[in-house]
Amino acid sequence: MSSPYGLGASAARDRAALPRSDRFDAVDHCIAEWVERRPLPGNLRDAVRYAALGPGKRMRPRLVILSCEAVGGRCEDALIPAAAVELIHAFSLVHDDLPALDDDDLRRGRPTLHRRAGEAMAVLAGDAMLGLAVELVVRQMRPRTLAPAICEELILGCNDMIAGQVYDTLPEFDGAVPPIERLRLIHRNKTGALIRAACRMGALCGGAGEGELRAITGYGEAIGLMFQVVDDLLDVTQTTKHLGKTAGKDAEQNKLTFPAVVGLAASRAEVRRLQEASLALLEPLGETAAGLRELCEYLAVRTK
Ligand code: IPE
Ligand code: IPE
Ligand code: MG
Ligand code: MG
Ligand code: MG
Repeated sequence: MSSPYGLGASAARDRAALPRSDRFDAVDHCIAEWVERRPLPGNLRDAVRYAALGPGKRMRPRLVILSCEAVGGRCEDALIPAAAVELIHAFSLVHDDLPALDDDDLRRGRPTLHRRAGEAMAVLAGDAMLGLAVELVVRQMRPRTLAPAICEELILGCNDMIAGQVYDTLPEFDGAVPPIERLRLIHRNKTGALIRAACRMGALCGGAGEGELRAITGYGEAIGLMFQVVDDLLDVTQTTKHLGKTAGKDAEQNKLTFPAVVGLAASRAEVRRLQEASLALLEPLGETAAGLRELCEYLAVRTK
């Protein structure tokens, strides 16, 4: 079955690969152009380009664009928030890899930014990507009347991501909170919030009605949690070479993850449950949500 969303026949042949599509490549062009236009020191520009335009999956921009289309909007109307959310995501990865957090040397099959450009530059490039993302929306969002709502979604998602990184790295849980609840809180925030924001921004760009926004928000919450459960599983089941980031890090660092708390089989069952829940939430949207359905199916079976 062919698909207008760039995930059809070839995804069916190899569910583990995420095919590229010109429609989504526009996001990279938008980021590259924005970074080029800003008056940044040359070494900071290089660091931002390295982090934001490296070989990642660009899932969050895809979600923005597909969510916009799911409610009848046009791809180009969602380009600015798509680029902005990827800048925030890239910032989160650079800081996540720092020695003070996960202390990782490898990201996207290459040295992490602090290994390449030093810790000071990695901290500052992360900060810069946050600023660049907000500035992009404030200055470039069209129609301008949407800028405050898009900014609000982006910053709420970003702040929840930061809170999630704190729960993950510097937890201060009440001893009475069971591990599974701590885990859901960590994952919902550190990963789910930005994914939820991506979906909501796309829906807002597409002029979603109340019911559509509710459906897309529910979908974003379910696949946001699913995304991190899969990430936890891949850390245990895949190799460093395949992932392009160090496998086995979560156990080594005693992280609270789904496989650690409930085991591999129950983690896989949780992925299936969340996949079904995501798809059910899209039902009221009909055929325009085909791209989001396809993406959900890919995200449930991805291997990197
Ligand atoms: C990795 O995100 C960090 C998590 C939130 C799990 P991705 O798996 O989307 O990383 P890239 O962007 O494809 O490198
Ligand atoms: C990271 O979670 C979530 C972020 C906010 C970046 P992980 O620490 O599990 O992500 P990876 O495995 O390093 O990509
Ligand atoms: Mg981490
Ligand atoms: Mg990490
Ligand atoms: Mg991980």
